[in-house]
Amino acid sequence: LKRFPLINVQGIPLMSTIAANWKSVSEFSPDPSDLLIATYPKAGTTWAQEIVDLLLHNGDAEMCKRAPTAVRIPFLEIFSPPPIPSGLELLKEMKPPRVIKTHMPIQLVPKGFWDNKCKVIYVARNAKDNVVSYFYFDQMNLTHPEPGSWDGYIQKFMKGQLSWGSWYDHVKGYWRERKERNILYLLYEDMKENPVREIKKIRQYLGVLVSDDVIERIVQLTSFKTMKDNPMTNYSFIPKFLFDQSVSPFMRKGEVGDWVHHFTPAQSQVFDEDYAKQMKDVDIPFRFRI
Ligand code: A3P
Repeated sequence: LKRFPLINVQGIPLMSTIAANWKSVSEFSPDPSDLLIATYPKAGTTWAQEIVDLLLHNGDAEMCKRAPTAVRIPFLEIFSPPPIPSGLELLKEMKPPRVIKTHMPIQLVPKGFWDNKCKVIYVARNAKDNVVSYFYFDQMNLTHPEPGSWDGYIQKFMKGQLSWGSWYDHVKGYWRERKERNILYLLYEDMKENPVREIKKIRQYLGVLVSDDVIERIVQLTSFKTMKDNPMTNYSFIPKFLFDQSVSPFMRKGEVGDWVHHFTPAQSQVFDEDYAKQMKDVDIPFRFRI
């Protein structure tokens, strides 16, 4: 497989396969009952989708396996090489309500989601852990461009040159619209710190009747360890020519603060200075350690 180059779509670098199919993605019309999970890559997408899937199945892991919800589909915009079907193809075969994933920045989310007032859950993760996780992912995900050196990778991250564009614009875009568009905005660090509290927030947002006991069970079922061993969530079903997990496992570490093992003090200082500039106009309560 050749790694796909990035092509600019409305100022956002996207994988060439997405750019080529841009029209069909942007015209996608969801049902009002559909739910969108939006993230910058590596912010906790898989974790959030597993929580939502279990909430919709009242904590029944067997049902999650037997009645594969749309939660399992690839992203709305992802076009994998044949024979793997695209997100759009799979969506056509499923009945609403579907849980749809995207990494699109808010301005590229198909208009239909807003017109139809679909529920949207956004998960954001602190920039330093996010870039570390993305660096490992770009090594094992053979559809993405080669990540190159770690130092060069941090530069690309700061300049918004990675697939799906600038992390800074991404987290800010959804943050600014969260009230107006009724977006549930979650933080990875909060989920690590107190999963019961965060899962209850999702329960309330979805308006599902799930008991507190079941919430406790969902916490266990969505722990990093359980999800790492679960073939439904560890992406072991993705063929090796797309995800080479011998390079780096999809469920890699799942921690807050792993960045300290990757940033040198000098890299951290440059990053912090740039971060202060890029984030000066918002006040999102990110934490780099818990
Ligand atoms: P690391 O690379 O830091 O381990 P996404 O699903 O958006 O691609 O994000 C993947 C990141 O979320 C990986 O981070 C992965 O380990 C982490 N992750 C997945 N499930 C998790 C869970 N249940 N608890 C904590 N972290 C989880």
